[in-house]
Amino acid sequence: MQLDNHILNQFLSPQKSNRLEVETLIKKVINQLLDFLSNASEKPTNPALKYLNTAHFKIPEFSQTHNEIQKNLQELYDLSMNPANPKYIGHMDSMPTLWSVIGDFIASALNNNVLSLEMSPYITQLEYSLTKQFASLFALPETAGGVMLSGGTLSNLQALLVARNTKLNIKNGNIFSLKKEPVIFTSEHSHSSIQKIAMMIGIGTDNVIKIKTDINSKLDICDLEIQINAQIKIGKNPFAIVATAGTTVSGNVDPLIEVSKIAKKFDLWLHIDAIYGGAVIFSEKYKHIIGGVEQADSISFNPQKWMYVAKTCSMVLFKDFSKMVENFRISAPYMKEQNSYINLGEINVQGTKYAEVIKLWLSLQSLGKDGYEKLIDYSFYLAEEFEKEIFKRPYLKMTSKPEMNILCFRGEPQNIKADNFDKWNENLQQYLLKQTDFFLSLPKYKNGLWLRTVLLNPFLTIEHIKTLFLNIDNYEKNQSVNKTTH
Ligand SMILES: Cc1ncc(COP(=O)(O)O)c(C=O)c1O
Repeated sequence: MQLDNHILNQFLSPQKSNRLEVETLIKKVINQLLDFLSNASEKPTNPALKYLNTAHFKIPEFSQTHNEIQKNLQELYDLSMNPANPKYIGHMDSMPTLWSVIGDFIASALNNNVLSLEMSPYITQLEYSLTKQFASLFALPETAGGVMLSGGTLSNLQALLVARNTKLNIKNGNIFSLKKEPVIFTSEHSHSSIQKIAMMIGIGTDNVIKIKTDINSKLDICDLEIQINAQIKIGKNPFAIVATAGTTVSGNVDPLIEVSKIAKKFDLWLHIDAIYGGAVIFSEKYKHIIGGVEQADSISFNPQKWMYVAKTCSMVLFKDFSKMVENFRISAPYMKEQNSYINLGEINVQGTKYAEVIKLWLSLQSLGKDGYEKLIDYSFYLAEEFEKEIFKRPYLKMTSKPEMNILCFRGEPQNIKADNFDKWNENLQQYLLKQTDFFLSLPKYKNGLWLRTVLLNPFLTIEHIKTLFLNIDNYEKNQSVNKTTH
């Protein structure tokens, strides 16, 4: 039996037989993609949602031509969210660096498996080296190291699993042997993944104790100590604190040094979720904002956010790497034992692992630490100008004093009843999208709806910000006129 050429041509022949055809196809596909992306600022930031039924995505019985496939691709481009447009400022989804996109292509094309050294001899070493260097950028000690995972939730999961096994001394992960219920402490503004993880690791969402925050959305240290004592008193077993360096809604940073002192006092694991804010380590001017991060037992960080690496790309770093291995490793008997480099799949919540490290590595090579510093500092510059615009308008309020490039604000005009603020801001979000194509998100914060901006796009300028605020003013004026004439 032999496969016909049409089937074989769906792969790049290792015997050169279709190299030219593949090159032509790649050029055609890349051209179509470049036509879309190089014109992204003219395309909607967030195209209107079009509901497509199952039949629309019908699995074909037989092979489709390249032209048919490209037609489907065009629809995919046209109906996808468009973070390359500088007016897309609603979420933590940045446009990716060019080299991270190329890195994704290379990682897929090489298709190594970062599960083991044998299956990824070069990439395993690269991941060990880069995570070690990131640990040192975060000023963790020589003993530190880490692993990479596909997203921040997984990084937080691995950190809290290791915390649980280490602090509760349950190396086999059997929580049924515990006499007291374990509890985790985190601020009311930490990411929902902490709840999800508590559900997954057998702690239970009720055992995530939410700590109050101050007027700047930072964890309240007094409340933290009160809650820890209260849980001890009712017979529970505190074992970890999760502090956030860059909260999801407003980009605020918990008081890391004070939290670390409390963690030491009560002998708790300190995990710092620097998923978003970790990128400021590249800026000499702003890295003090996450000062104290080096006190953590573990740190999670997503280069897929403020380092502009294409999704997904995340890492978790441990102050004591060998202790992490001791408290987490499950050996894979079908894999060759390694002494120099433990197979990464044995010390990672994932098994088969994508080579995400390639796109991080290429982005670092193309920008250097210096390029990242410039990108981060530019974001801060935009955020400072944005904040000034908010201050100029007494009818705008902020959730908290911004500390990074995330600003969360809303209109609370005097002539509007407080009950109607949510509607007013919801309509403002829609107005901005329809009139100007600026996309801001509308998260819930302390039971109200707020407008959130994440100033990531390197092509975003002060002119864009001025235009946005002119339109916010127009909306406010129209609403006031409507209010007085109706
Ligand atoms: C502070 C924080 N932690 C964790 C996460 C979860 O990361 P991911 O969505 O990559 O799983 C997010 C996501 O936005 C986040 O903002």
